Amino acid sequence: MFDRVAHWEGVYSTKGEKEVSWFQEDPAVSIEMIKQTDATRDAAIIDIGGGASRLVDALLGDGYRDITVLDLSAAALEMAKARIGPASAQVAWIVADVTTWKPARQYQVWHDRAAFHFLTEADDRRAYLTCLRSATAPGAQIIIGTFALDGPEKCSGLPVQRYDSKTLADELGSSFELADTRGENHRTPWNSNQSFQFSRFRRC
Ligand SMILES: C[S@@+](CC[C@H](N)C(=O)[O-])C[C@H]1O[C@@H](n2cnc3c(N)ncnc32)[C@H](O)[C@@H]1O
Repeated sequence: MFDRVAHWEGVYSTKGEKEVSWFQEDPAVSIEMIKQTDATRDAAIIDIGGGASRLVDALLGDGYRDITVLDLSAAALEMAKARIGPASAQVAWIVADVTTWKPARQYQVWHDRAAFHFLTEADDRRAYLTCLRSATAPGAQIIIGTFALDGPEKCSGLPVQRYDSKTLADELGSSFELADTRGENHRTPWNSNQSFQFSRFRRC
């Protein structure tokens, strides 16, 4: 059986931050979409499958004060903490698999760039949604970035499920209302393009 934790711990303990296809110096689309939620600087924001992403650096730089990063790889979170330095103490870091995690609180903004698309089994997607519902209340905003329909079929050697806003909305169900969607051509560190879609939903 595929061992998710072993896969991702292996990736982050053998590759540098800029040696993975998903590396972004500037998570501009994510930040722009988070700002569009009108979340205050005190709003609780969680980055699901945040890995070693620089989104947390950007959020701290913008003055957000209640940031959580969740990932199943402890090595990924350690990489982010080491880069950020003392300011990392202002962030809640959670090592967990989103499909089994039991949130202890709720978040106004749920952000996920390139974690949900690894859930190719319906049971895992159902478990993700159970977690999402438990971690949010009506009015919460959910931003999910995945490979688009014309994006790669694999990432990190693993198969992915590709989406557009409609198929993602169908997956989330009628209690999440689509508020915005956009495409992004992500340029990997080795200059190839990957087509992403980012969609923002409001929990009804
Ligand atoms: C392609 S990377 C993207 C990382 C980060 N979001 C970014 O944009 O740089 C996917 C991330 O999702 C994490 N991940 C994959 N499946 C997960 C799961 N079931 N629960 C939590 N994290 C998961 C991986 O460890 C990895 O850090």
